[in-house]
Amino acid sequence: QARQHSPHSPDRAPVQVVAHRGASEDAPEHTLAAYVKAIEDGADALECDVRLTADGQLVCVHDRRVNRTSNGRGAVSTLELSDLAALDFGSWKDSEESPDWGDREFTSVLTLERLLELVADAGRRVELAIETKHPTRWAGQVEERLLHLLKRFGLTEPPPAGETSPVRIMSFSARSLHRVAAAAPDIPTVYLMQFLSPRLRDGRLPAGARIAGPGMRIVRNHPAYIERLHRAGHRVHVWTVNEPEDVDLCVSLGVEAIITNRPKQVLSQLGRI
Ligand code: G3P
Ligand code: CA
Repeated sequence: QARQHSPHSPDRAPVQVVAHRGASEDAPEHTLAAYVKAIEDGADALECDVRLTADGQLVCVHDRRVNRTSNGRGAVSTLELSDLAALDFGSWKDSEESPDWGDREFTSVLTLERLLELVADAGRRVELAIETKHPTRWAGQVEERLLHLLKRFGLTEPPPAGETSPVRIMSFSARSLHRVAAAAPDIPTVYLMQFLSPRLRDGRLPAGARIAGPGMRIVRNHPAYIERLHRAGHRVHVWTVNEPEDVDLCVSLGVEAIITNRPKQVLSQLGRI
């Protein structure tokens, strides 16, 4: 879905606000609590990272291990879903202003399937930006199971004429995106970049990648690169944009999506709420 870009064109769609790991500044990341809040806050889309458990279930967890965001220990890939379901993914976020997350509802491990149900029941269009984490370890199984699940929800079909897909798949791994593009060409792919590698400076993306996903540091240090991406016909989705001046910079460069831990504050800054 490459398109001609003009940052100042009046008919350009407004920048999309994507809740990174849910409303993860206010609620424990990757829990239903964080995603419900993001939907209530008015986010246009939800970002989540997915990993496979030892018994082949896709769960929304960022780190390789559960140590930081739960009261358990160990790698997601060595634990079964029932092991993860016994853990508390909320209490690590307790603070004086917001205590007792572990005692609240919706802070157990979140499966991607449950997140898809939440989005399906949101009552308005909420898009999903799903990131495959360390897909090389599983040699294609993450993508295979992900696409299987998306198919069950009818999300691998081409969108109706004039509409865009409500789901996209992101990765730092070009190989992962290549697999997705080959198996499900109607799902947009986002190539995430932490650094600007010399081979990408001309604005072209690896095969299979449709949308560019530069980190905020790239945008700050190389604003001309964003123009090159647009000239090459790529949409640009920037992460993780939390500071008001970074939001301003992204807007002035005409990026298509801002991925943020603070969807409410960004929507407010943009005058949308
Ligand atoms: O949205 C992309 C961004 O989430 C990539 O970095 O480490 O937060 O998954 P990370
Ligand atoms: Ca991510």
